[in-house]
Amino acid sequence: MMKNRLLTLTLVTGAIVFASCNQSSKNKEMVKQEIYGTTQGKEVYMFTLTNKEGNVLKLTNFGAKINWIEVPDKNGNKDNITFGYDTFEGTITGDKYFGAVVGRYANRIAKGKFTLDGVENNLPLNDGPNTLHGGPAGWHSVVWNAEILKDSKYPAVKFTYVSPDMEEGFPGTVNAEVVYTWTDNNEIVMDYKCTTDKKTVVNVTNHAYFNLHGAGNGDILDHVLTLKASAFTPIDSVMIPTGEIRPVAGTPFDFTTPHAIGERINEQYNQLILGKGYDHNFVLDNIDPVDVTVYDSASGRVLEVITDQPGMQFYTGNFLDGTQIGHGGKPYNYRSGFCLESGHYPDSPNHPNFPSTVLNPGDTLKTQTIYRFSVR
Ligand code: GAL
Repeated sequence: MMKNRLLTLTLVTGAIVFASCNQSSKNKEMVKQEIYGTTQGKEVYMFTLTNKEGNVLKLTNFGAKINWIEVPDKNGNKDNITFGYDTFEGTITGDKYFGAVVGRYANRIAKGKFTLDGVENNLPLNDGPNTLHGGPAGWHSVVWNAEILKDSKYPAVKFTYVSPDMEEGFPGTVNAEVVYTWTDNNEIVMDYKCTTDKKTVVNVTNHAYFNLHGAGNGDILDHVLTLKASAFTPIDSVMIPTGEIRPVAGTPFDFTTPHAIGERINEQYNQLILGKGYDHNFVLDNIDPVDVTVYDSASGRVLEVITDQPGMQFYTGNFLDGTQIGHGGKPYNYRSGFCLESGHYPDSPNHPNFPSTVLNPGDTLKTQTIYRFSVR
C-alpha cells in the first residue's frame, strides 16, 4: 500500500554534501553523507559509515533504515549481507520494512484496538484484521532528522523523529531517537530512546533482513541458529499471540542448542503451519551474554544479536516471493533472508500477562540492540 505523501519524489544523484572524519582514530574511519533524494518535502540522505577495518554500513534517514552491511567472509572477501536497494526510488517504493526502524508499535496489534485508562484507541488496519508495524504510515515510512555524531569514538549517526499525537491512532506526542554506531569490532550498536507527553504504548525494533551468504545469494535454510529462548508465544490463524507462553522443549522451536533453520521448518507442527514457517516471538532468557547466534559454514560468517529487550521475533522470510529486486539487481526470493526483530511481544497492549509496553510522560524508554558480525 503506497501512501500519497510518498509520491512526491525527486531523484538526485550522487551529490556529496560533506564528509566527516573522526580525527581521534585512523583516517579510514569516517562517515560520508550524500543526498539520496527528496520526499515528503524533506531531503533524504545516504550515510556511508566506514570503520577501521574498512567495513561499510550504509544508513538512510528515510525510515531510519539500514541499507547495506558489507563484511568479510572467512577468506576476507567482502559482500553485503542485508536487503536494500541501490536507488532512491527503490528505497521509497520497494519493500517497506527492509532495514527499517519500526514504530510506534512494532509487530501486530489485534483488530487495531487497545484500551488505555478506559479509553479505546482505534488504529488503521493494514494486515488483514490487525495493525502491523505501527500502521501503514508508521516510522518506517517517514523522513527522520539526521545528525552525524562527530564526537563519537566510532562512526555514528543519530536519527530523531517527532511522532505527533494521534499519529496512526496512537495517543501522545512521542520523541523518538535511534543512534547507530558502527564499531571497529563490526558491531551495529542501536540505541533507542523515546519519551511521550501522554500515556501511550511503544515497541521499537529494527527490521533488517540478513543472508550471510550475501544478500540475494540463495536461501537461509542452511544457516545454523542458536536462540537463547526457553519459550515462545504461539499465534492464532491471523498471527496474534494466543496469550500462551509455551516452552520450546521438544518442539521445532527449540533453538537453545544450534539447529539449521531449515532442519524442522517444514514439520507438520501446528505453529509452523500457522506462521508459514518461523514468524514468532521468542521469549528471551536474557541470561547469556549473547541472545542469538547465526552461523553460515559456507562463508564462515557469524551474526550475533545482543539485546536488553524481552522478546525476539524470528521471521524466515516466508512472505518473500522474488518480486523485490534489490542491490545488484538480485531478487529476494522465498526464505532468502531472515529477521531477528528484538522487542516486546506482539499485541502486548491486549495481554496483561506480557511485559508492559506502556510509556508514561516523564519516563524515558531506553533500549539497546547490537548486531555483531565476525567469522569462524
Ligand atoms: C515481520 C512479521 C511478518 C511480516 C513481516 C513484513 O515482522 O513478523 O509476519 O509481516 O514483518 O513482511
